[in-house]
Amino acid sequence: MAKTRVWIDCDVGADDAAMLLVAHKLEAMEIVGISAVAGNVPLAATYPNARKICHLMQAEYPVYAGAARPLVRKQITAAHIHGSDGLSGVELPLPGREKLETLPAWDAMYQAALTHDNLELIATGPLTNVAIALAKYPALIQKLRRILIMGGAVVGGNRTSCAEFNIYADPEAAESVFRSGVPMVMCGLDVTQKAYLTKAELESIAALGSAQAKTFAAVLQPPLERVLQDGWPGVPVHDLCPALYAVYPALFTARQAGVFVETEGSVALGKTVADLDSDKKFADRHVTVALGIDRKGFVETVGKAMGKYRT
Ligand code: RIB
Ligand code: CA
Repeated sequence: MAKTRVWIDCDVGADDAAMLLVAHKLEAMEIVGISAVAGNVPLAATYPNARKICHLMQAEYPVYAGAARPLVRKQITAAHIHGSDGLSGVELPLPGREKLETLPAWDAMYQAALTHDNLELIATGPLTNVAIALAKYPALIQKLRRILIMGGAVVGGNRTSCAEFNIYADPEAAESVFRSGVPMVMCGLDVTQKAYLTKAELESIAALGSAQAKTFAAVLQPPLERVLQDGWPGVPVHDLCPALYAVYPALFTARQAGVFVETEGSVALGKTVADLDSDKKFADRHVTVALGIDRKGFVETVGKAMGKYRT
């Protein structure tokens, strides 16, 4: 069975780190490149964080730096959740003599799409890099098989009452990606808040004993403690959803919809407006909106992947 070739654009943060650790061990997936974008914390942290996680995985993926700020608006962060370093204060070494990539993320994404047919783009941070790539290289629209994002919410929000952080952090970028015409899979809060790990499940992963498994648990520990205080059953590992959807779609339930982003106004800025339950549908309905997850299967898949680390 041919592997699913993916490019991962992320803003390493705790759940992005967890996603990379799992994605590296998904046999059905081939990661061809990783890019960093400003998001959870500034690019000055998300870029080295991606390299630190690759070093931890003993993986040689090329890592590229992208946008240090949103297309239009002032940068916001989620450092209050991920820590000022983006890794919950977990100290990890950078690779020693590492050859740093010089291409900007959007150029590297395009080069990868020219090299690898049917490339799938997984984006788990603000969509700034993706928007720039699609604007600079319109041919990318035909080259990419699809874009799978962690972002948005049909109902609710986590940065505002109706906007999710990745979209709210750069709504203009998100809107341009949703309007690009590339088929999309949207893993919004509707599904990602169901993709949680309980305290006991996180402890079981740490008990696997590898440095990678212990780091997986350590970076998610502060977010776990925060949500447990709010009465949640466990820590949502948001960014795992688009990666798992790419190779295990049967874990999810989803519906096709038109989705576009509110980029004006104040109350609803950054809301992903979906026509799922509207009589009036959008003309373009190119987004597969993930809404449900088999959480037992999710936990088993994560445990199996993390159990493959042996160092
Ligand atoms: O809203 C959750 C998303 O915002 C996740 O991708 C998290 O890493 C942050 O980027
Ligand atoms: Ca993220």
